[in-house]
Amino acid sequence: MGFSKPKSAHDTFIMTDLTQPFKRLPVAVIGTGSYVPERRLTNADLEKMVDTSDEWIITRTGIQERRIAAPDERTSDMATKAARRALESAGVSAEELDLIIVATITPDTFTPSTACYVQNNIGAKNAAAFDISAACSGFLFALKTAVQYVGCGQAGHALIIASEKLSTVVNWEDRSTCVLFGDGAGAAVLRSGGRPGDGAVLASDIGSDGTLHDLLQIPGGGSACPTTVENVHERLATLAMRGNETFKHAVSHMRDSANSLIERAGIDPGDIKLVIPHQANLRIINAVAQRLRIPSDRVFVNLYKYGNTSAAAVAIAFDEARREGRFGKGDIVLLVTFGAGLTWSSAAIRW
Ligand code: UT7
Repeated sequence: MGFSKPKSAHDTFIMTDLTQPFKRLPVAVIGTGSYVPERRLTNADLEKMVDTSDEWIITRTGIQERRIAAPDERTSDMATKAARRALESAGVSAEELDLIIVATITPDTFTPSTACYVQNNIGAKNAAAFDISAACSGFLFALKTAVQYVGCGQAGHALIIASEKLSTVVNWEDRSTCVLFGDGAGAAVLRSGGRPGDGAVLASDIGSDGTLHDLLQIPGGGSACPTTVENVHERLATLAMRGNETFKHAVSHMRDSANSLIERAGIDPGDIKLVIPHQANLRIINAVAQRLRIPSDRVFVNLYKYGNTSAAAVAIAFDEARREGRFGKGDIVLLVTFGAGLTWSSAAIRW
């Protein structure tokens, strides 16, 4: 028995016949969407908040402005908007979804998951929904996870979303981090592939190194350091980063992940139409591209207008690049990310 349309999410997980030889299905990305909040916070605005300058921020990071969500705009609200756009571009209804995965480090609540809020918002009543936490690498961790479900016939359609409201975990008095981050969301719809026009996921790679967990973290607010009046004053529930060291690991891990993927998938680097890297710092992006020997006109950059939106960054970039026509039918796109954990990930998609 192969995959056939289940009547409910529960059915999805009992329909695989384990007596039959396992056959892996090709998996395709069939639609993308993204959303960024309206409010722009420019470098000039930040000059009024902390001891910084437009010149420092642009030369050290490449960022000119970032988007900030409204106070009552939740991570799930941004995720929902990106999800609706992805479903529309895929031509898939919410009821056809079997799986929703949200990657975020800024969930609406610790529990329930942000994915469950999104499921309710869009009316995806047949989908199982859960969150994953892999920081800036989260979108491609979600992709790899969804590929397993769809490729094994355990889900017909999967929705993956990365959504972040980083403005709620930034220390707005720390100039070394507050100039870097922004809010936004990106999404993609996957299904078993092979149909004409489908974008095939050729290969994906994920990795982690927990020995370096203290390079980039939000130390407070979890079970290790529950919120108290004192540690709220100490800003312990905000992002803390050792920037220089993180920078070096970002370059080497993105290079290594992308290279191993290229080799494993048997891709000629000359055939890569576009590299879509994590949008943290233009100097990191340039260093990775140089090491992969990919010229800058084949590297997608949008961080100058959004800053670093963690997991959402590569998802928003993927959607924008597709809508701008930066890649088309038959083109190979390479996505590569890096984040706290440490975590890294890459994926090759033939559109
Ligand atoms: O998304 C997850 C992964 N994240 C990353 O990959 C980020 C990796 N790191 C970076 O992008 C860079 O390390 C930063 C952009 C965070 C910092 O750039 P940097 O060139 O590594 O600067 P730095 O930390 O070495 O600081 C250089 C100087 C310092 O002053 P002194 O000690 O030389 O006098 C900082 O205090 O720049 C100062 N500085 C600033 N000056 C003006 C730090 N932040 C600012 C600021 N404005 N906003």
